[in-house]
Amino acid sequence: MIIRPLTVFEREAVKTFYLALSPEDRRKRFCCTLSDDTISGYVDRLNFVRDTVLGAFDERARMMGLAELVRGPVASEMAFSVRPDKRGQKIGTRLIERLILRARMCGVRKVFVMFLSDNTPMRRMATRAGMALSSADGEAHAQLELAPPSAQELAQWFFEESLSHSGYFGTLGMVHWGSLVTQSETAALQPLKVPAAAA
Ligand SMILES: CC(C)(COP(=O)(O)OP(=O)(O)OC[C@H]1O[C@@H](n2cnc3c(N)ncnc32)[C@H](O)[C@@H]1OP(=O)(O)O)[C@@H](O)C(=O)NCCC(=O)NCCS
Repeated sequence: MIIRPLTVFEREAVKTFYLALSPEDRRKRFCCTLSDDTISGYVDRLNFVRDTVLGAFDERARMMGLAELVRGPVASEMAFSVRPDKRGQKIGTRLIERLILRARMCGVRKVFVMFLSDNTPMRRMATRAGMALSSADGEAHAQLELAPPSAQELAQWFFEESLSHSGYFGTLGMVHWGSLVTQSETAALQPLKVPAAAA
């Protein structure tokens, strides 16, 4: 699995991902039921420079999950969504680890996540990440104070981030290359069409 920060050029992919979610999954992700228009408007307003949108991709460079970090003056809000057919494979766990690491490296001092109290996978992800939990009125709140990074951690993180980008584009290249080879092999198997005049 490759996890990397998305760029502003991938806004449409984020929109497609969220719009494909069922009403129940939208409710879990946003803590309320949202229409297509509201989701589209939300994604249109995402700030890819100030905030972070991480994407998790499979071996064919297809998006499997998203994690967001929206910067706030005191604390930054995190949110997660994994494609329904990919859940239970620790993608959410990897996303929260990477997002917290990125938040720390970017100088964020506190992160939090809001979710419905009956959302067991999110609760377990937050607990495993060492977050402090509280609940009220059917909603849960998890928060975590972050320590500033050391110079060594920053250098290592920077190196790993570069690898995630090159890994993704390498994978994308292989997928395109593979489909070109398949196309040319299929074309080679086509019977030769002889023009009617020459037959
Ligand atoms: C929350 C969500 C992102 C988790 O993604 P995921 O890839 O399935 O998560 P993981 O596989 O890493 O599992 C996380 C934990 O939940 C547990 N879990 C996974 N599916 C579960 C299920 N159906 N029931 C109970 N526990 C479950 C896992 O065992 C793991 O716990 P552990 O580390 O103690 O073993 C995903 O369920 C999702 O997209 N939900 C809809 C959106 C949402 O709820 N977002 C949260 C609010 S922002």
